[in-house]
Amino acid sequence: MEAEKKGREKVCVTGAAGFIASWFVELLLSKGYIVHGTVRDPSTHEKNAHLWSLDKAPENLKLFKADLLDYDSLRSAIEGCSGVFHAASPVIISPLEVIEPAVKGTSNVLKASLEAKVKRVVYVSSLAAVGMNPNLPKGQVIDETCRSDEDYCRKMECKD
Ligand SMILES: NC(=O)c1ccc[n+]([C@@H]2O[C@H](COP(=O)([O-])OP(=O)(O)OC[C@H]3O[C@@H](n4cnc5c(N)ncnc54)[C@H](OP(=O)(O)O)[C@@H]3O)[C@@H](O)[C@H]2O)c1
Repeated sequence: MEAEKKGREKVCVTGAAGFIASWFVELLLSKGYIVHGTVRDPSTHEKNAHLWSLDKAPENLKLFKADLLDYDSLRSAIEGCSGVFHAASPVIISPLEVIEPAVKGTSNVLKASLEAKVKRVVYVSSLAAVGMNPNLPKGQVIDETCRSDEDYCRKMECKD
């Protein structure tokens, strides 16, 4: 991940203005990467201003207009990138409104990454996918090897 040593490597961050994605953008810029950030509206100054104030943003950050349900817009942002951090997702709205962008959007990101020969995709998942399981041993570090228990989620009516 040391871009200075390898030249001007490009990395895409989806939902770049979001809470988690903004930290990815800051870290990647600080490591010397050129960052392709996706936002739904690059012209909205208030939503994107914190990105433009980051160190090295004026020269190394490029914002692309992209929606998760618009494959071509994602493909343009991911083209030429060696890595993708996929953090865009609707948050805290009704489950029905989350599912399509989350599932179809992630599928679009993976398809575009495959076509663009991206070397690595990092997907930001949710605690709801891994932590809701009464059989997890107490004190276990929860990571991608863990899975929430579907029946338990239904019984508890987990909303996360
Ligand atoms: N925050 C946490 O503590 C936390 C913990 C664990 C997991 N997560 C997960 O991490 C992900 C990001 O969370 P966050 O807290 O950073 O959320 P956030 O601040 O709301 O950021 C989400 C971003 O996704 C973008 N987005 C939403 N719908 C989109 C669509 N249809 N097309 C393109 N972009 C879209 C939004 O872009 P616009 O700016 O265009 O609206 C927004 O910038 C979520 O999946 C969340 O479940 C978060």
